[in-house]
Amino acid sequence: MRDSVTVSAPGKLMLLGEHAVVYGRPCLVTAVGQRMRATVAWTREEALELTAKDVRIEGYSKPLRELGQGEIPKGAGFVELAVRNFAKEHALERGVRVETVSEFSSQFGFGSSSASTVSVIKALAELCGLSLDERAIFNLAYKTVLDVQGKGSGFDVAAATFGGTLRYIVGGKELVPIDVPDLPLIVGYTGIKADTVTLIDAVKKKAERYPAVIEAIYSEIGNIVEGATTALRRKDWGALGQWMDFNQGYLESLGVSGEKLARMIHAARDAGAWGAKLSGAGKGDCMIALSDQEHASAVKQAITQVGGEVVDVAVHAPGVRVE
Ligand code: MEV
Repeated sequence: MRDSVTVSAPGKLMLLGEHAVVYGRPCLVTAVGQRMRATVAWTREEALELTAKDVRIEGYSKPLRELGQGEIPKGAGFVELAVRNFAKEHALERGVRVETVSEFSSQFGFGSSSASTVSVIKALAELCGLSLDERAIFNLAYKTVLDVQGKGSGFDVAAATFGGTLRYIVGGKELVPIDVPDLPLIVGYTGIKADTVTLIDAVKKKAERYPAVIEAIYSEIGNIVEGATTALRRKDWGALGQWMDFNQGYLESLGVSGEKLARMIHAARDAGAWGAKLSGAGKGDCMIALSDQEHASAVKQAITQVGGEVVDVAVHAPGVRVE
């Protein structure tokens, strides 16, 4: 048995299909080259000890038998429940010390909570000498995310676990890799923090008031993802850009775009991008644009000129792995 294991898992970017994916439609997601690292080691105490400086957790400790109970500081929830859920399924005879370190700011919306959940579960399995396959890691991590935040499709958990670029349906009902390491994506950060749960709730409220309209929008987004999947497989970037623009229109209708996002998206299109849209829950976080080499620097400049920050990220990154 090992004494200590370090594991890393990638962040993600939603390509198309956000929000509608929560209601059973497919989405497309790619894993990004910026990773979350978790080091897990045995301790003498029968407790979880946690340090996660990125989310201001230092020297947090809780007995194993009390995990998931009482007060849990914001920032510790995903790891604490990951350890508890792992212990419930696989028995954890000793205490563990966990340290998570992120290569990216949790502000970007790259899915740091899901990536740390996935990496902690994989590290615990390695530490215990268990060979959990990716599906088992995904299932346990997705259950953990639902235990903590009560909602979400799990697309971010899928990207952190499997890596690459995926077509995904809620709960992992569909998990199909698409081989596009050369996806010519540009990412712009708004500087605004978006709260996924709040935005899912806002859309749900709208759906309660206008059920037929919102259902029709979800279905149209589903159709757009179908078209985008074909374009992605054929590497027909021009067509994919058009599907992104259509998708952005429907996200506007759902009420999750925002002034800054819209400015950055329009600036990217005007500078020659094939297409552009928000990525993720909306209102803030990041937008994405698809561009050829010829227009890439103009697109980046346009995003910066309207106050966005271009984030240099590799796409189609490998999934969870031991370091
Ligand atoms: C958030 O990044 C994307 C949503 O579709 C939520 C989810 O799929 O879990 C809004």
